[in-house]
Amino acid sequence: MKRIIIVGATSGIGKEVAMIYLKTDCRIGIAGRRTDALKELQAIAPDKIEIQPIDVTQEDATDNLLKLIEKTGGMDLFLLSSGIGNQNIELKPDIEIRTAQTNVVGFTRMVDTAFNYFKQHGGGHLSVISSIAGTKGLGSAPAYSATKRFQNTYIDALAQLSHMEKLNIRFTDIRPGFVSTDLLKDGNYPLLMKADKVAKHIVHALNRKKRVAVIDYRYSILVFFWRMIPRWLWEVLPIRNDK
Ligand SMILES: NC(=O)c1ccc[n+]([C@@H]2O[C@H](COP(=O)([O-])OP(=O)(O)OC[C@H]3O[C@@H](n4cnc5c(N)ncnc54)[C@H](OP(=O)(O)O)[C@@H]3O)[C@@H](O)[C@H]2O)c1
Repeated sequence: MKRIIIVGATSGIGKEVAMIYLKTDCRIGIAGRRTDALKELQAIAPDKIEIQPIDVTQEDATDNLLKLIEKTGGMDLFLLSSGIGNQNIELKPDIEIRTAQTNVVGFTRMVDTAFNYFKQHGGGHLSVISSIAGTKGLGSAPAYSATKRFQNTYIDALAQLSHMEKLNIRFTDIRPGFVSTDLLKDGNYPLLMKADKVAKHIVHALNRKKRVAVIDYRYSILVFFWRMIPRWLWEVLPIRNDK
């Protein structure tokens, strides 16, 4: 029976991925800050789901993740879906700093804990939901796009480290385009995808142990061309999502 840990499963993409895995032969440990949402999900399948409140920005998050892994009976697959994002053209400091605390500090804390767990337990599959937003710096969401780039690079680095240390850890960096969830509360977004459909793509990519999964194919094409835009041109493009 596969043991799956999902941090950031109280809503959106992480919750939909958990709903898919619930239909399979597995045990799932889920986390997030909202205890009510965790309990609601656990009530669907109390014999399959373990819960643990975790705030990734807090220092006790590492101990809480280890507690959750223990309750779940171990961990074969780790998925980090926790994240926040806002447009912030006014560069409000609290938004930029909170985003970095969650998507960089919290991310590092959780991913390193999972890496070390797998290192000590003979291996496993470490996956994160980053974003296509890490492709280039977005003027309307500086902290979000920069923190997503950090996540992409961090997973690249851990994959190399794992290889250097001859560990049996597989990595999947999931990069969705725009998904209709609570995260996208401010703005109009093109090619908007539904969270349950995106979750199906994610589970497919995880089953195939894809190293990088851009979701969906339309965004793969977009990212392919997006990468080729030279810096001088990118910096003069008027890209913003007005309300
Ligand atoms: N929606 C999109 O268009 C899109 C596109 C690309 C990538 N993504 C990425 O997908 C991931 C999931 O986002 P979503 O769209 O599903 O949004 P969402 O519905 O807002 O889900 C975000 C999840 O992160 C958790 N979270 C936030 N801050 C946390 C913290 N400090 N500690 C622990 N958990 C925390 C939330 O749980 P609690 O509030 O209970 O803590 C929630 O479960 C994010 O990393 C996001 O950047 C989203």
